[in-house]
Amino acid sequence: MIDLEKNYSINARRMKKSVIRELLKLTAKPEIISFAGGLPAPETFPIDELDDICSSVLKEYGARALQYGPTEGIDLLKDQLIEWAKRDNVSITRENILITVASQQGLDLISKIFIDPSDPIIVGLPTYLGGLSAFNTYGAHLVGVKVDENGMNIDKLEIKLKELRKKEEHYKFVYVVPDFQNPTGTTMTIDRRKKLIELSKEFDFLILEDSPYRELRFEGEEPESMLSLDNIGNVMSLHTFSKIFAPGFRLGWVIAEPAIIDKLVVAKQSADLCTPPFTQFIVYEYMKRGLLEKNIKSTIEVYKKKKNLMIKYLDKYLPKHDEISWTNPEGGLFLWVKLPKKIDTEKMFEEAIKENVAYIIGSAFDAYSKSRNCIRLNFSYAKEELFEEGLKRLGKVIEKNL
Ligand SMILES: Cc1ncc(COP(=O)(O)O)c(C=O)c1O
Repeated sequence: MIDLEKNYSINARRMKKSVIRELLKLTAKPEIISFAGGLPAPETFPIDELDDICSSVLKEYGARALQYGPTEGIDLLKDQLIEWAKRDNVSITRENILITVASQQGLDLISKIFIDPSDPIIVGLPTYLGGLSAFNTYGAHLVGVKVDENGMNIDKLEIKLKELRKKEEHYKFVYVVPDFQNPTGTTMTIDRRKKLIELSKEFDFLILEDSPYRELRFEGEEPESMLSLDNIGNVMSLHTFSKIFAPGFRLGWVIAEPAIIDKLVVAKQSADLCTPPFTQFIVYEYMKRGLLEKNIKSTIEVYKKKKNLMIKYLDKYLPKHDEISWTNPEGGLFLWVKLPKKIDTEKMFEEAIKENVAYIIGSAFDAYSKSRNCIRLNFSYAKEELFEEGLKRLGKVIEKNL
């Protein structure tokens, strides 16, 4: 066989296996209580309703649902999404929408059309791993800006932008997950959002708003979305049905200026021609029947309860220590635990697995592989009755490492 390493493209050589996927393989044993993966609660999947909708889609749309479709996505679903965007006071037309194979494809296509090797792309420290790997594949130079309890620190961002401008670096976009960020669960304040929009005008960059969790707010006030604050077309916004409906559908959508959508459409053609029309018709029908709203309401109830359970048992079982703290998110699926600096959560991971409890190491989400003393905990997936035992085990592992 030929020497593959010599023949792989530069892009392929840059690709790294997802740390999360590798860790998740270790957490698959049934005896492990896992707060690791980002899986939605299976009990929120609308299986009975889908049983009925699948057959009615086949009856009503038959061959259309099984045929190739337009790369942009089907108009019936786009029209539902135009209505959906009004919940955020966002007014768009079909030309602003591209339906994708969930938001991970949006991240890849946006990287494909914007990133040249060595382009600085600004990301939160920490931020969503799948975003980092998409940008990295296309050779981005990742520039990190600290995320604190109020989202990305915009003052630090401004300093970074000034530095990059001085060096005449061609930065293209800033990537943010403003609502219930993965991994920290934090939400960017309205003041920071407004300042980010102002900076995008002053320093000429696009904002990539990745928004899978926004609808899953179970308490507190909702700040306006980046998209709704934007009045000059600088925001590209990624959405997905993965966390509000079912990730197995692999369905999402991008909202952006028509010129960007046009370019993304061409990029998508060489990736997969079109998003499966069958799944689009099913979700269209699901939305038309008003079921998405209903599903979100009940999902929120489930997650609120689980988040409260997690906080309660973190309080009870994590050692009392002034360098141990955690976020208390108002929505979403995750929270972030900071441990004393001397703890390396990657080393501790093996011990946690021995104790049959799992988390994701903080460094997986850090563009500079720091955050080694942090862990991400997911509260959506584990069964309620396992939270106490799982967090007791985690507390024990941390105690041993102090
Ligand atoms: C911030 C963020 N963006 C994108 C994704 C990708 O989701 P999907 O491709 O299922 O829409 C995830 C998944 O967890 C995420 O947390």
